[in-house]
Amino acid sequence: MLNNFASRYYMSYGVKYMPETVELIDKNRLPQHIAVIMDGNGRWAEAKGEDRLFGHFHGVTSVRNTVEACAELGIGYLTLYAFSTENWQRPGDEVEGLMELLVQTIENEIKSLHENNIRLQVIGNFSMLPALAQQKLDQAITLTAGNTGLTLVMALSYSGRWDISNACRLIAEKVANGQLTSKAITEDTIKEHLSTSKIPYPELMIRTSGEYRISNFLLYEVAYAELYFTPVCWPDFDKKELYNAIISYQQRERRFGKTGQQVKVINT
Ligand code: FPP
Repeated sequence: MLNNFASRYYMSYGVKYMPETVELIDKNRLPQHIAVIMDGNGRWAEAKGEDRLFGHFHGVTSVRNTVEACAELGIGYLTLYAFSTENWQRPGDEVEGLMELLVQTIENEIKSLHENNIRLQVIGNFSMLPALAQQKLDQAITLTAGNTGLTLVMALSYSGRWDISNACRLIAEKVANGQLTSKAITEDTIKEHLSTSKIPYPELMIRTSGEYRISNFLLYEVAYAELYFTPVCWPDFDKKELYNAIISYQQRERRFGKTGQQVKVINT
């Protein structure tokens, strides 16, 4: 039985009861693609009187737990917003620390990712990353390219507007050189020119730390994703938090612009 506070808390985030275990998840209705805005590392660290990098360092444990939980459940794609285009504007030592952490994390985790049949991919402006990070990522992407389990997509130096602008440029070039006519441009044409062209649209987007924003993440792709916001800061996000998000997703009626009645008829 939930006390009033817990009950109110979980109701406000769309979960009707306190989920105790992974057994509450319906394995036949999993989101195929989960995207996560991992927010709150800095505030989590500052609240403990620590440096912001301390928060990022602990955020890696949450990355590991989330990847592991998605792989165990059989989720197809997990996209993590690890570094945005805008994050380059942060103080130099924080950016440098994050890039070092990226290299270190790939070195530490790549063996385990590969052994667990996880495929690593990156979206974003790869050329902006330090040479060593590019090299380590290239190696990890090549090593895991043939894996058939979870696809882990790291968004690095990524922003949705950057990606949409690139897609527009590529399409405009094709129109200019006669490969495509403007009349032939459809929603699919745009999707095919995004860095996520081979990745299904996210069905569930999670943001931690109590902020209610999309912050330039997967702007085109998120159109019909279910959004889940939790006050928990990223370093405290554990498997149970992920299960809560999935259970909330499974309690929603996904209508895609249709009526509830129409959706019921389609699903029966
Ligand atoms: C947002 O918290 C988090 C980031 C900008 C970086 C996320 C990075 C990790 C979880 C570590 C793993 C990633 C790599 C690259 C190895 P914030 O700093 O914006 O927190 P705040 O909103 O409290 O300031």
